[in-house]
Formats: sequence, structure tokens, C-alpha cells
Amino acid sequence: MQIIDGKQIASEIKKELAVKSAAIIDKGDRPPHLVAVLVGEDPASQTYVNSKERACKEVGFTSTIYRLEPDTTEKKLLEIIDFINNDDEVDGYIVQLPLPAHINVQKIIGSINPQKDVDGFHPVSLGRMMLGEPTYLPATPYGIIQLLERSKIETSGKHCVVLGRSNIVGTPISVMLSRKANPGNCTVTVCHTGTKNLKEIAKTADILIAAMGQPHFVTADMVKEGAVVIDVGIHRMPDNSEKGYHIIGDVKFDEVAPKCSFITPVPGGVGPMTIVSLLMNTFKAYNKEV
Ligand code: GUN
Repeated sequence: MQIIDGKQIASEIKKELAVKSAAIIDKGDRPPHLVAVLVGEDPASQTYVNSKERACKEVGFTSTIYRLEPDTTEKKLLEIIDFINNDDEVDGYIVQLPLPAHINVQKIIGSINPQKDVDGFHPVSLGRMMLGEPTYLPATPYGIIQLLERSKIETSGKHCVVLGRSNIVGTPISVMLSRKANPGNCTVTVCHTGTKNLKEIAKTADILIAAMGQPHFVTADMVKEGAVVIDVGIHRMPDNSEKGYHIIGDVKFDEVAPKCSFITPVPGGVGPMTIVSLLMNTFKAYNKEV
């Protein structure tokens, strides 16, 4: 059994980006610039946005955070988006989700210039992904693809079972892995709340992607001997430690890991890859690859 070290792989990718960024600065050009728009004071969103800013610093990218009041109107937010869409000094940007209830999320995402949509959430970005055209892939599935590729895991012809059909993980990863690509070319089954015999289906997976958002849902009896298990779950469990919590995934790691050929731990598996994916997308945006 081999543990896929997401922290290590993320750190390697950051080093590669830092080298490229330094070369740009040495030439006298401006480095890639990522903007995050944060509306309101949701603590988790603030943490995410701060981590994105820190990651940009680490690789030598410029980052700007637009911090907006919780009562910012949809009209005002659309004006700010229009400004960023036309700002030649910004390569890519994200609007941190969730947005306050008075703002229509799909309207906001739809107003992002697809050329700067480094989250890959715009319908045009998702449509290009469906067609296999150059695009920004959403961060978490892109991170999973990187983990599979850099761990040299063969995917072609394998049966991949995805647990969960969310717009940001389950649905896009199922499309990416079924496409004729490497990694990809899998036979993909998507399981969700409407699936009747989920346990039996999970057990047929060569590659099992757990992204249903339920702590410790995947147990050893649901996993085939020799399977590759990718755990996308992140759950804070309160405890008596100094931090007051520890993080667990959707997979019962201790009992599942001995059956696997490869498995991602939580924390330190898929999690560290998501921000790195955003940085990779920002670099693509800088080079106008999309
Ligand atoms: N909120 C939680 N995850 C994400 C993400 O990947 N992008 C954005 N914009 N908001 C999020």
C-alpha cells in the first residue's frame, strides 16, 4: 500500500511555479496576478481566501483580495466584476462562495469573463471541459488528476466509481476520467443519494473517489483488494486537543488503507492540491492558454 502524499506533490508543483514566476520577473515582466473577491465575513471563506493569498506569495504571484461588506448589492458586485473583467493587470480571479443569500450565484458566475475564470465554474468553462477543449478545470478535480498523474497510476480501462455528484467535484471528475485522455479513459459509475446498491457498486471499483461529504462513510467492506482510493472529504471533528478539532475524510482510513494499492490521507491528500490547482490555472491565464 502506498500513501499518496498530496502535501509533497503540492509542494513540488509550487516549486515548479516559483521557478517559472522568477524567470518572468527576471525578464522584467509583471508576475501572474490572482484576485479573490470575498463578500461578507464567513470565517471559513476568510480562511480559504487568506490561504490563497499566502500560496500566491510562496510562488511569487501577485494577489489582491477585494473584501466587500456583507450587504453589498448584486448590482455593485456586478460592477466590480465588470471592472476586474476589463483590468489588464489581472490574469484570473475567483468569487469566493458561498455568497450572501440576496445575491444570485449563477448570475455572478455567469458574469465572470471565461478567460479569467480560474475556478472553472462558468458554464463556458464547464462546457469546454465536456468537449475536452482547453479550459480551466475546477480546482479539486484538477488536483485529483494531478495526484493520479504524478503518482503514475494507470487509469485507462479501469472502473472508476465516484461517490457524490456535486457540481464542483463529483460531476466534473466523472467527466474528466471518462474522457479519452491520460489520466482518463476510465469506465465511470457515479453513485449518489438515489443509488440503491452503493456498497456493492463501490466494491467493484478499481479507482474509488469518495466525494459525498459524509465523515468516515467508506468502510473496508466497500473496497476491493488493490483499489486506488481518493478521499475528497474534509470534516472538522471537535476534540480535546489544543486546536479543539481534528480533520477526517469520507473514508475510514485505518481499516481501508491496508486493502489499497494507493490511498490519499486526510489531511494531506487532496486538500493541499486544490489551492495549487488554482495557481496552475492562474499561470495558464497569464500565458493566455485558455
Ligand atoms: N468555496 C469553497 N470552495 C471554493 C472554491 O473552490 N472556489 C470558490 N470560489 N469558492 C469556494
